[in-house]
Amino acid sequence: MKAITYTSNGGPEVLTLTERPVPEPGAGEVRVRVEVSAVNPTDWKSREGTPPTGHQVPNQDGAGVIDAVGEGVPAERVGQRVWLFESAYQRPHGTAQEYTTVPSRQAVELPEGASFDLGAGLGVPALTAHRALTLADGGPHRLAPGALSGRVVLVAGGAGAVGNAAIQLARWAGATVISTVSGPEKAALATAAGAHHVVDYRRQDAAAEIRGIVPDGVHIVVEVAPGANADLNAKVAANGALIAFYANDQDTFTAPVRPSMVANLRWQGLLLYTVPAAAKDLGAAAVTEAVAAGALRGGPEAGLPYHRFPLERTAQAHEAVRDGAVGKVLIDVRAS
Ligand SMILES: NC(=O)c1ccc[n+]([C@@H]2O[C@H](COP(=O)([O-])OP(=O)(O)OC[C@H]3O[C@@H](n4cnc5c(N)ncnc54)[C@H](OP(=O)(O)O)[C@@H]3O)[C@@H](O)[C@H]2O)c1
Repeated sequence: MKAITYTSNGGPEVLTLTERPVPEPGAGEVRVRVEVSAVNPTDWKSREGTPPTGHQVPNQDGAGVIDAVGEGVPAERVGQRVWLFESAYQRPHGTAQEYTTVPSRQAVELPEGASFDLGAGLGVPALTAHRALTLADGGPHRLAPGALSGRVVLVAGGAGAVGNAAIQLARWAGATVISTVSGPEKAALATAAGAHHVVDYRRQDAAAEIRGIVPDGVHIVVEVAPGANADLNAKVAANGALIAFYANDQDTFTAPVRPSMVANLRWQGLLLYTVPAAAKDLGAAAVTEAVAAGALRGGPEAGLPYHRFPLERTAQAHEAVRDGAVGKVLIDVRAS
């Protein structure tokens, strides 16, 4: 079968199209015929910085059809359409290959009618967004319709992949959603995703705008740039607010101490790989439910334009993500 692999860290040039044996699913695993692979920033960062132990196939996320199961996995799973998460985390089998294997729980049934494109785009962005939205004091621990009703969620960077998922999931869960963006085109994407209010942080006084929309403040912030936005977040946070940050725009950030104390703020980091498995399973179930309900979508109409590459151009797909492609970068594995 065709596979993209790398055997040493480096730039996109280390990605090589090779012929590899079709992997066999081990105990507790399923084998998936990959239709679509998706690229996230973590994929090029791992390629650059996490030493592979042999032939490493990149890309955590993807979607396809289960074609074989290992010992202990019900045979009925064969033929199931699935979306995948963490395929390549501490494993050599990412999704940039025609067949991959994953532990059974990391191949989640894709609801009827949901495309492989949508499924491939779920993993990292949607599970990260779900985690950020479920870390507040008192829960909820799992999103569902109404779970966030009465709450105000601020999504920083609503045109980003995680931001897009956070807007859609928060909206599905009943929150009032505000998003910041850097310009009009991104504002249109955040609006298409479902944000009730969009604030241009370059052209507007974001704190004043947000306080004007919600005088009592924001309950949850899904933060992509904790360094740049620490002051803004402290200014707009309601008492007891959670600021869940998932990216490192700077090595350190400075949180204003007294406002954080007075408003009982919680500044909480998250890294999806090390989030407890049980929380990720709750997230996977909620995300699948939102997809089935038509509340979590992909493509331009949902504010997430697709950019497609064939398997042999995986290096260019990695470059596109590293260069800040707006939307979702997908690789057509089956058609390659
Ligand atoms: N911790 C985790 O588990 C985890 C999970 C997923 C992703 N990540 C990390 O999170 C980052 C984003 O991932 P992604 O896939 O969503 O990337 P993406 O699609 O490129 O989105 C990043 C977004 O952040 C916005 N942004 C940057 N600075 C901003 C600021 N000061 N205020 C508001 N928005 C700002 C960008 O827009 P503008 O520049 O136009 O504002 C862009 O829309 C990456 O660094 C990735 O590695 C971490």
